[in-house]
Amino acid sequence: MVSFDRRQFLQSAAALLGAGYALPAFGDDAPVFTPKASFEPLATFLTWQGDPTTTMTVQWVSSKEEGEKRPVWYSKEGSMEWKQAIASSRPFPMLKHFIFRTELTGLEPGTDYRFRIGLDSAEKKFRTMPNKATNTIEFISGGDAGVGEEAQHTNQVAAKQSPSFVFLGGDLAYENGTFAPIFLQFLKNYSTQLIDEKGRLIPLLGCLGNHEVRGGYRQTRKEAPFFYSIFDGLFKETGYASLDFGDYMTLIFLDSNHTTPIEGEQTAWLAKTLKDRQECPNIFVFYHVPSYPSFRPIDLEDDEAGTGAASRKHWVPLFERHNVDAVFEHHDHTFKRTHPLIDGRVDSKGILYLGDGSWGKIRTPKSPKERPYLAVTHEAYHLSLHRIEGDDRFHVALTDSGKIVDVCATRKKSHLHPANS
Ligand SMILES: [Fe+2]
Ligand SMILES: [Fe+2]
Repeated sequence: MVSFDRRQFLQSAAALLGAGYALPAFGDDAPVFTPKASFEPLATFLTWQGDPTTTMTVQWVSSKEEGEKRPVWYSKEGSMEWKQAIASSRPFPMLKHFIFRTELTGLEPGTDYRFRIGLDSAEKKFRTMPNKATNTIEFISGGDAGVGEEAQHTNQVAAKQSPSFVFLGGDLAYENGTFAPIFLQFLKNYSTQLIDEKGRLIPLLGCLGNHEVRGGYRQTRKEAPFFYSIFDGLFKETGYASLDFGDYMTLIFLDSNHTTPIEGEQTAWLAKTLKDRQECPNIFVFYHVPSYPSFRPIDLEDDEAGTGAASRKHWVPLFERHNVDAVFEHHDHTFKRTHPLIDGRVDSKGILYLGDGSWGKIRTPKSPKERPYLAVTHEAYHLSLHRIEGDDRFHVALTDSGKIVDVCATRKKSHLHPANS
């Protein structure tokens, strides 16, 4: 079997050359997949650490031995040209499993791909983001999920919308940086439930919340071992990061004092990141603890971690100066939409804050009468679907049974400010 030997050679060559190396294989060198899948990782999940128009980061959990001998095979849907990529590995914190990761690069934008882990796992699919925002783009946000039935219902509602990706704004699994089986269960739920109507696995992005971290606030990265074990491709050295989608969208993820202080380096980085992206047509900001809470008290004098006081002081003026399109907040376990706000006051030219993290946890929110900055609140498990259509944006809140509870339309804004040039 010459082709088999050549394939083995290619696999060995790729292994020698290191993780992430991709070799094309087609014709006689094409991989021969087993007719029936005999290997299934404990969880397989997708995220991004590079431009989502041309990359995909594939991760999975298995034993060290099972993972090490299996490269990721991938090809465009409908193509017979397969490439393979070798994954790097790290121990799954506190368990005997390993997490394998490979970033597929040089992909075609707006294209369906199929992939397999080794020759003997089931085929899975994904889609890269388009290189221009000419067609409608849809993504989903939410936060405070956990692994319970409610979170799983919301997962299913999310999958039914077939979004390009899901973002969770902290308190993902509620493992508290300690309970490894809960974090693994979160990944398993994602792996089997966040699959769109065409059978594609939906990429997951996230940011830190207090329940990712032993101690909740003012800790180091070491105290958030699970979050960083799967997201440190994007959050390489800090708890904050940005992700640029071609030249049409930037997502900014902030750390509301869980492993990085709000003021100082992080705020300086935020100012520079926003200034560098004045020409970008879509800028969305995500973090966990709300600046404008819908359940917890808002005390302008309270500077304690977890109250939103520090982000109101250091981040909100930057959001306003750069006129970001929307800010996504979580942690309070309600649905909320604020009025457009400038310095906490209703202003038609202000910033929209959406939240407040009720993917799998709920509390009774304050009413707009009690908190005049709030436009709408609702007590229900929910997710938010965001649709960008040219200059129009629609933010639709759906409950865990798929019922629409709020629709908000906004228009494209300029992020250029005379003081910024
Ligand atoms: Fe929470
Ligand atoms: Fe929280």
